[in-house]
Amino acid sequence: MATYTLPELPYDYAALEPVINPQIIELHHDKHHAAYVKGANDTLEQLEEARDKEAWGAINGLQKNLAFHLSGHILHSIYWHNMTGEGGGEPHAADGVGDLADAITESFGSYAGFKSQLTKAAATTQGSGWGVLAYEPVSGKLIVEQVYDHQGNVGQGSVPILVFDAWEHAFYLQYKNQKVDFIEAMWQVVNWQDVAKRYAAAKERVNVLLLAP
Ligand SMILES: [Fe+2]
Repeated sequence: MATYTLPELPYDYAALEPVINPQIIELHHDKHHAAYVKGANDTLEQLEEARDKEAWGAINGLQKNLAFHLSGHILHSIYWHNMTGEGGGEPHAADGVGDLADAITESFGSYAGFKSQLTKAAATTQGSGWGVLAYEPVSGKLIVEQVYDHQGNVGQGSVPILVFDAWEHAFYLQYKNQKVDFIEAMWQVVNWQDVAKRYAAAKERVNVLLLAP
């Protein structure tokens, strides 16, 4: 029995047009995300085998593969739900996402400042990576992270609530080498209801790190 399974898309392949075309969504979910799920499961099996045989020659590669594939699976699972064809705009209290809107202003000074930072963080990734808005439980504030691959350059314990995939597979078939254009277009499909739900859930888990009594 596999530990991880590929989640269904919450919409059809064409739901995010014209920001993301159906061919990208199909390949991205059915091939790329599926490969991370398989990679995570395969790596867990290989680690089990290593424990059984006490054969640790490949331990460094296996631990790296586990971090890579598992983080890829988790980020993509969030990514699909972070987007909707009826999304975009700014989060407003009138839409029931006032707590999130207040947290963004408090954490970044202004919505414009936040938007600018996340856009830049995603659009300037070197090689493959992500721009991420995360809840940081020690400060109780939101931070932006520029993630290398799927797992590098992140603070331990932070919870991703809005993720922008900046890998070439996320945009190249439609935007070619114009990564900045793709990231700027992404703001039109942000599902603020989903981001607000993730923010509320992350805040609920505030004491999970037990850094304070
Ligand atoms: Fe991706």
